[in-house]
Amino acid sequence: MRVIVCWIALAWAVPPVPLIIDTDMGGGGCMDVDDVGALCMTHALVNSGEVELLAVVQDTSPAPVAGAISAVNHYFGRDDIPIGAYKGRDLDPGAPLLPYVLYLVANFTGPITDSSQVPDSVEVYRRALSSQADHSVVISSIGLLTNLAALLQSEADEVSPLSGQELFKAKVRLLAVMGGSFPDSGGEPKGCNLCGCVFENASAARPACAASGYVSAHLPSEVNVVFSGGDVGEFVRTGGRLATCASSDNPCRRAYLDYLANPPNSPPSSTRPSWDPLTTLAAVRGAEAVGCSECTECDGVAWVDPLTGADKWIRGPASNQTYLELQNATMAAEAIDDLLCQPLVTLV
Ligand SMILES: *[C@@H]1O[C@H](CO)[C@@H](O)[C@H](O)[C@H]1NC(C)=O
Ligand SMILES: *[C@@H]1O[C@H](CO)[C@@H](O)[C@H](O)[C@H]1NC(C)=O
Ligand SMILES: *[C@@H]1O[C@H](CO)[C@@H](O)[C@H](O)[C@H]1NC(C)=O
Ligand SMILES: *[C@@H]1O[C@H](CO)[C@@H](O)[C@H](O)[C@H]1NC(C)=O
Repeated sequence: MRVIVCWIALAWAVPPVPLIIDTDMGGGGCMDVDDVGALCMTHALVNSGEVELLAVVQDTSPAPVAGAISAVNHYFGRDDIPIGAYKGRDLDPGAPLLPYVLYLVANFTGPITDSSQVPDSVEVYRRALSSQADHSVVISSIGLLTNLAALLQSEADEVSPLSGQELFKAKVRLLAVMGGSFPDSGGEPKGCNLCGCVFENASAARPACAASGYVSAHLPSEVNVVFSGGDVGEFVRTGGRLATCASSDNPCRRAYLDYLANPPNSPPSSTRPSWDPLTTLAAVRGAEAVGCSECTECDGVAWVDPLTGADKWIRGPASNQTYLELQNATMAAEAIDDLLCQPLVTLV
């Protein structure tokens, strides 16, 4: 049942954060459900006036993923939010998908059912960025860095006279990257997003590592970047409340219940780590609001090995890059679950 609420005055004195979500939801990349949590949580932040969701881009190739994104956007009444998909040739469109992706596409409604109906993520990024004020946009990268690498490599076009590198430097205020392990992954890749390597022989591994290496080597020094390593979100368990706080027409509830009953690599559970929602919420509200702090004595920048996806903090002069450290997992989980359980509102 939809709760109809008329927003007369929003309590937020600050304008909403213009946000782009870059996700590998459910297939072709790291195969989890917390991307769905991040997107649903973001819709709640739009409802509360904290976020303006500019676009959602899929950074993998399996076609139905865009349909699952569309099903979520539709549930929240936002069919107008641009969706893009990775259209490069390096990832396998036939890579495995989690069952919830197909379930959402088949059993929920959305105007888009597969990525053939959406533009290339690079085009969606370029349109979204060029429409915004300088140094304003926040990007939450919660999947592979394939789209971002392609954006940074893009050239001037009819959308913008700026190259992707120039556009990113001019428009982005903050890039939050979920991936790796900081300050040092120990010579091996950690987690999945930077290396695409969570499953044995994952076809995404080589292009994912190359993209991560490219992005880390080409980040403009003026743009703030916050890395959120796997060991931060790992200990923040969320999604369990959806079983009771949300109704059966909620696609996020469906995705979590479906995933938690039969996780691909672990026993059934009632909650999931919060890598992606934590990264996204920290990007919007700041680290402290999600029980984290930004590393303070870590001057330097991140480096990602383009061959292995291993990461390392290279100590050096003060920079605009930092990484999150978890201080209070309970606080982080409550903030995320409260948003996942926020009643649906419809603008009237
Ligand atoms: C759609 O829902 C029905 C009924 O629950 C289920 O049997 C079917 O498998 C679902 N479709 C997909 C593609 O998951
Ligand atoms: C992964 O690759 C190795 C070496 O090519 C092969 O021996 C192994 O069977 C593969 N495993 C899977 C699950 O495909
Ligand atoms: C950090 O960004 C600001 C502008 O956003 C820039 O003036 C400054 O030079 C940057 N710092 C470094 C070390 O590049
Ligand atoms: C962590 O956060 C919870 C919930 O906000 C709070 O009750 C608790 O006191 C905090 N713990 C510490 C050690 O600050």
